[in-house]
Amino acid sequence: MFGRRGLTAEERADAEEVQRLTHAWDRACQGAGLVREVSTVTGPTVLVPEITFVHLGPPDRLTVRLQPGMVPADVQAAASRIAPHMGAYGLRVEPRGIGQWVIVTLLYSDPLAETQPFPLVSGDTVLLGTDESGQEVTQTPTDLGHIAVQGATGSGKSAFLYALLSQLAQRPEVEITGVDPSGILLRPFSGAMLGLGEPGVIADYLSRLVAGMDKRITSIPLDRDYLPDADGLLFVVLEEYPGLLRYLDAADPKIGKRVRGYVARLLAEGRKAGIRVVLVAQRAEASVIGSTERGQCSTRITFRVDNHDAVKLLHPDVDQDTAAAHASALPGIALLSSPGRPLTRVRAPWIGGYGEYVQRIGSAA
Ligand SMILES: Nc1ncnc2c1ncn2[C@@H]1O[C@H](COP(=O)(O)OP(=O)(O)O)[C@@H](O)[C@H]1O
Ligand SMILES: [Mg+2]
Repeated sequence: MFGRRGLTAEERADAEEVQRLTHAWDRACQGAGLVREVSTVTGPTVLVPEITFVHLGPPDRLTVRLQPGMVPADVQAAASRIAPHMGAYGLRVEPRGIGQWVIVTLLYSDPLAETQPFPLVSGDTVLLGTDESGQEVTQTPTDLGHIAVQGATGSGKSAFLYALLSQLAQRPEVEITGVDPSGILLRPFSGAMLGLGEPGVIADYLSRLVAGMDKRITSIPLDRDYLPDADGLLFVVLEEYPGLLRYLDAADPKIGKRVRGYVARLLAEGRKAGIRVVLVAQRAEASVIGSTERGQCSTRITFRVDNHDAVKLLHPDVDQDTAAAHASALPGIALLSSPGRPLTRVRAPWIGGYGEYVQRIGSAA
């Protein structure tokens, strides 16, 4: 029953498992370049972040002391290269203390693989998604700023917009409008432009929004440089914006140009006037959503896109591995950049289908 050193078979197995994990960690960190090089009398040597404690789970958790000069983000950046060599799908890296330590949890499956139920809306914030550690990612409607959403067909853009708009619609200060070529997303909102109608009518509609914005700007109180939220927050959704511009350009390039001008003004000046633009595209093509427009969108969300240059367009700070892996993301999984937080992989909330969306908007009205 008891082994040589008084250990039970189970304890021996655990000790072996700890040793296996520690060994795999050392090799994986070296392979991933997560090392500090120092010179010693016997020549240069590499040091990896040191495992000081192993909690055997599931989930298995490693307490790791970083090498001087390393930050938790360095471990996060190497995670996708370390994980497979530890037999894991991914790593969750959480800072501990003042940044000298991290807790690394080995994830044996994608924590975002499950559909994320939609919680009751409460408080001052809207839910954008749930991150890999199960934390809700929220934002106040004001701080959302302008929003850019991209993703291939079937990647989860509409489902995300259903969740976003149905939360916003609950709020008394928020109004929702926009242009929707398919006529589906914005159908519950009276006043939105549905379908691809007369190009001139679409341009006139946007010109009225710009005129409304100009009027709102003149009503900004003298002691402020923005319109208080209480005076209303208008979300202008431009569904399939590149497609809209292509349609307008083909019909009359002058109208396409007018519309670009109006949207540029809404983006540049809308924020202080309580106007938020939501740009939706299958791909945030540089020729359609230029760098100025992208720069003005403080919330950017990318569902699956085929090519990782498209990820980089909206998230210039994305690392190569994350961008490449995102080409096969499940519907509803997105990369999110929002003010004050590093690029985060999230699962967007799922409110149910279109019927549920229409019902929620109806009950908010
Ligand atoms: N957040 C999500 N959670 C679970 N399933 C989702 C989610 N988002 C999308 N899906 C699934 O993917 C399908 C396509 O999503 P949809 O939003 O219509 O894509 P898109 O608008 O990008 O074409 C949905 O019908 C649903 O089955
Ligand atoms: Mg859609």
